[in-house]
Amino acid sequence: MARKRGRRVAPSSDHHETGAKTSTRPDQFSESAASDRKLITIFIVFFVVIPAVSVLVYRIKYAPNKDSSYPQFQEDGLVKTDVDYQEILDENSKVLKNESHRHYTYPVLAYITPWNSKGYEMAKRFTNKFTILSPVWYDLKSQGTGLVLEGRHNADMGWISELRRNGNALVLPRVVLEAFPKELLKKKKLRDKAIDLIISECKEMEYDGIVLESWSRWAAYGILHDPEMRNKALQFIKQLGHAMHSVSSSRNGKQYLQLVYVIGPPYSEKLQPHDFGPEDLQSLSDDVDGFSFMTYDFSSPHNPGPNAPLKWIRFTLQILLGNSGARALANKIFLGINFYGNDFVISEGSEGGGAITGREYLSLLEKHKPELQWEKNSGEHFFLYVDDEHINHAVFYPSLMSISIRLEEARLQGVGISIWEIGQGLDYFFNLL
Ligand SMILES: *[C@@H]1O[C@H](CO)[C@@H](O)[C@H](O)[C@H]1NC(C)=O
Repeated sequence: MARKRGRRVAPSSDHHETGAKTSTRPDQFSESAASDRKLITIFIVFFVVIPAVSVLVYRIKYAPNKDSSYPQFQEDGLVKTDVDYQEILDENSKVLKNESHRHYTYPVLAYITPWNSKGYEMAKRFTNKFTILSPVWYDLKSQGTGLVLEGRHNADMGWISELRRNGNALVLPRVVLEAFPKELLKKKKLRDKAIDLIISECKEMEYDGIVLESWSRWAAYGILHDPEMRNKALQFIKQLGHAMHSVSSSRNGKQYLQLVYVIGPPYSEKLQPHDFGPEDLQSLSDDVDGFSFMTYDFSSPHNPGPNAPLKWIRFTLQILLGNSGARALANKIFLGINFYGNDFVISEGSEGGGAITGREYLSLLEKHKPELQWEKNSGEHFFLYVDDEHINHAVFYPSLMSISIRLEEARLQGVGISIWEIGQGLDYFFNLL
């Protein structure tokens, strides 16, 4: 089993409990449509005409062999909806000759986890396809009345030197702020200490900065419901960014230390206090260099389905960038793309299953020889199988097609992408980057 992002917390599970079915979520805002003729017309236009036109456009645009942005694939005809399990087995390890040529020219942030060594290999092999590499190494924790930055033992300096010989990708290890938020945010001494620990580690280890994850934890602790604490939380991130920007990187004196901040998708148009919204984005934008936007894990064993329906991705991006002020910040967003999949139990009365890696996906294909299906609404491939104990499963795992349309969406919106995580994908996914 692939270990997932180990940080599923209250806010992200909230929305699963609302019970809305996967493909209808973005539609739920017009439930009253049925009662009014005018609304019915709107409803028809929205949910019948527009999807029909989109499907048509989609067919034309993404028909096999016609995707001009990926010349090599045009010849191979592999980016398509009607894929065959055998073709995936035959082709998945083939990569284009030039491993440093970039097809997706917006910023690309790639996560690497210490528990999956394939990610380290992929980062070395395709260094030039990435602008930022983020190994998931650090936790900033409370210890007694103080703080401690844990994770140095994960740091692999040989690997970093190799990356730097290969190309210019920045190395920004991820730091999770585990420390008790109330104390941290209320005490100036602790806040200063946290910032000092992070900056000293960057200097000593010659990192180009960090990726910080704290919002989901603060939400889980209920911190963000209190307006005063929420404000302190934002101020802390600004303070950290400001301090990092005043330190030039030890490798390259012209470059200051970079801060990328991890944010989750809002779940409804009406933002909840724990949602990170457009105003937050604007308020942090001077001090934060990028935002890693976790548009994945839409479904769960409790509510099986596609990992990140395309409509939902659009919807969340629209909420985050909707107003004109935030729109200008699109270039700071790294839209999340999952390179892992899910194998869900879908038998009546039972639930279970979870994340799978590329390797596990390939062995399922080999064993069950399934028929892959394209789910138009979500823009994802999936297949069904019955295991040895006669339990039904549904497997959603990315495909060249599903990744291509997400890259195309990101390109249209002018945003970068972030991949969780590069060790869990299939080799030929990197041809698209
Ligand atoms: C590979 O791609 C890089 C980056 O686009 C380019 O500079 C280089 O010339 C290419 N190498 C070959 C052998 O085509």
